[in-house]
Amino acid sequence: MIGSSGTIGGAFLELLQNNPSCSKVIGIHRHSEHSIDYQNPDSIESCATALSHEGPFHLIINTIGVLHSSDWMPEKRLDDLNAEQLAELMKINAIGPALTIRHFSKLLDPKNSIMVNLSAKVGSIEDNRLGGWYSYRASKAALNMLIKTASIEWARTKSNTALIAMHPGTVNSRLSKPFRGEHIGRPAKDATADMFRVIENLKKEDSGSFISYSGEKLPW
Ligand SMILES: NC(=O)c1ccc[n+]([C@@H]2O[C@H](COP(=O)([O-])OP(=O)(O)OC[C@H]3O[C@@H](n4cnc5c(N)ncnc54)[C@H](OP(=O)(O)O)[C@@H]3O)[C@@H](O)[C@H]2O)c1
Repeated sequence: MIGSSGTIGGAFLELLQNNPSCSKVIGIHRHSEHSIDYQNPDSIESCATALSHEGPFHLIINTIGVLHSSDWMPEKRLDDLNAEQLAELMKINAIGPALTIRHFSKLLDPKNSIMVNLSAKVGSIEDNRLGGWYSYRASKAALNMLIKTASIEWARTKSNTALIAMHPGTVNSRLSKPFRGEHIGRPAKDATADMFRVIENLKKEDSGSFISYSGEKLPW
């Protein structure tokens, strides 16, 4: 469970710890024993190497992501666009998760495994009707492309592993708080229970899909 210090990541960690069919679960975040900090991409490979003797893993879920920081909020208009925010969101939402797919792929059980990356419906190019949120949308669209591309390679090289982009729905969390998350979002416990139901029913043919918490396939 990568990103287990977050709201959704923490709820996933608890769900897996309470699931009798899950024999071992490891929570990873910026301050865990083996840590990942996307500000330091080398930490991704070091963490994967440190955990290599613990595997193979049947399920890896990555929930790391950012929407806003103390320095900036999502852009409302083109005039808000700036290089720093664009680069930062690409680094945390797309480059970090892609390198995590690369380095953690070696820890997955080649006989049967799933890797789920939390994306966001607002990263769908086809579904973009409202505009705004340039860097978050673009970083999640980039993440989606990286997932889709890796899934095509895995169909040849890791044919029993499904690689998925998943939308959690609007969840009451630190990330959604400035956008009335506590009013319009669901508790993370409900969202993770829904997503886990979808994960349990995934087939290897679903690899390379963008799937909502409800099981609905989303347009890229
Ligand atoms: N909440 C929603 O409504 C919603 C909707 C659509 C998609 N999502 C996606 O769901 C995922 C989880 O979001 P959430 O709502 O649970 O948000 P959250 O509570 O803010 O959790 C974000 C997680 O990302 C980690 N993180 C941020 N920057 C990092 C970095 N540089 N290196 C390593 N870890 C870093 C945080 O670690 P720290 O604890 O160390 O800060 C935390 O574990 C995100 O990918 C988000 O885009 C959420």
